[in-house]
Amino acid sequence: MKFAEVQRIVGGVPFISPEHAMSLYNKILCERPAEILELGIAHGTATCVMAAALDEIGAGTITAVDLADAAFAPSAEEQLARCGLTWWADVLRMQTGYTWFLHDEIRRRTANGVCEPKYDLCIIDGPKNWTIDGCAFFLADKLLRPGGWIVFDDYDWTYAGADATRAATDGITHRALSEAERTTPQIREVFELLVVQHGDYGEFVIEDHKDWAMARKTGSREKSYTVRYRAEYADLVSWAMAAARKTAHKLRFGSRAAAHP
Ligand SMILES: C[S@@+](CC[C@H](N)C(=O)[O-])C[C@H]1O[C@@H](n2cnc3c(N)ncnc32)[C@H](O)[C@@H]1O
Repeated sequence: MKFAEVQRIVGGVPFISPEHAMSLYNKILCERPAEILELGIAHGTATCVMAAALDEIGAGTITAVDLADAAFAPSAEEQLARCGLTWWADVLRMQTGYTWFLHDEIRRRTANGVCEPKYDLCIIDGPKNWTIDGCAFFLADKLLRPGGWIVFDDYDWTYAGADATRAATDGITHRALSEAERTTPQIREVFELLVVQHGDYGEFVIEDHKDWAMARKTGSREKSYTVRYRAEYADLVSWAMAAARKTAHKLRFGSRAAAHP
């Protein structure tokens, strides 16, 4: 399915912006990952965009994981059905979250003490939390094939900067955190301290304007680190559009869904 077509159907639903959706779609056309793992799906808008890219290539599967009690309307399943793309994605819901899914997957794929990797692209877009997402990185790494990419959204997100009207984000109570935990971007810490220092990862790209950080499992000792800024006027327009979308989303989809950026 062409990008314009999937955007026409799901483009008005949070959370991924059209700009980010387009680069994710193009990355999939370019890298042609056979197995995609999406951790944190919400309404499944990014899931639909990725499914459209797989449909365009004609191969691949998405495994998309969220919490059992995450109630987003429309749901990921509804959006995939609306796009006619259900075939490309397995949507899984876990009681306590994706770290236990990763446990199960590592258990299923372990034989003779070795875990056989499965995925070529893994998107981590969940609670933005050092403990959960730091753990998720090490677990997902066991399942990521050599040459595969891991992508983190919300590189700069903080609890302190989160919507002030809410007391908790994905089960983490803001006031229970220390000042440092509230003001430090926790995905940035996961990326800089765990991913970049990991011996198997060698190609790092920070897309500052997208709040994305990406790392490739190169298996080589060489490291390259690229930061892409885009400060043109066009981006200010994108930023303003994203802010307007967030506000519209809060008004339209209610407070449960609004508990995520
Ligand atoms: C920002 S939304 C994901 C947006 C989606 N990737 C997109 O771009 O359309 C974050 C999601 O992470 C989920 N989430 C938060 N903590 C989680 C956990 N521990 N395990 C699984 N999912 C989690 C939330 O329920 C929510 O759906």
